[in-house]
Amino acid sequence: MELIDAIRLRRSTAPVTGAAPTDADLYEYLALAAHSPDHASLRPWRLVSLRGSDRERLGAALATGFGDPPGSPEAARTAAKALRAPLLLSIIASPVQHPKVPAWEQLAATAALISTLQLVLFEAGWTAMWRSGPAVELPQVRQLIGVGDTEQLLGWLYIGGRTEIGPDARPDPDVSGKISTLP
Ligand SMILES: Cc1cc2nc3c(=O)[nH]c(=O)nc-3n(C[C@H](O)[C@H](O)[C@H](O)COP(=O)(O)O)c2cc1C
Repeated sequence: MELIDAIRLRRSTAPVTGAAPTDADLYEYLALAAHSPDHASLRPWRLVSLRGSDRERLGAALATGFGDPPGSPEAARTAAKALRAPLLLSIIASPVQHPKVPAWEQLAATAALISTLQLVLFEAGWTAMWRSGPAVELPQVRQLIGVGDTEQLLGWLYIGGRTEIGPDARPDPDVSGKISTLP
């Protein structure tokens, strides 16, 4: 697929099949995506994959963290959110001390990586949706995933199979006025 087509066709959609990339696939995609801009090549991020019953553990942590009564319908609804894709890739910004690269640049590099990874996944035939929300701050969730005190959980890429490319390419957004010059 041409890059320009992938950019215009990519969608954040729910997976339509239960298939997911293998760990070997993920490493291949990640190595590609890691070409994204990254000051001093710090790779200031890491990813924790959740498959199968690990997603149920995340679901339980979500329900406990949000204070849903154990065994309640609310708890079941919350827990089911972690089952919306066969593979959840937890996104962790993991900044390091660096004399020239402040933490915000490292966060920007992490976002650049994920954006590129979404395109790589799409080009390879998968769908990937970035979801976050208040769940990223829950102690139960951070503990389960092993997020360190100096790290930031940025959400999850919900990854799964799609049977076909979705609707037609979207028209390019109206970005008029988004570039200015000095007054
Ligand atoms: C950091 C980040 C967090 C997001 N979190 C959520 C989320 O929790 N729930 C949601 O519905 N969309 C979330 N989105 C938006 C979707 O991932 C997606 O970008 C949006 O629905 C637009 O769809 P598109 O990617 O097909 O253009 C998030 C996007 C980003 C960049």
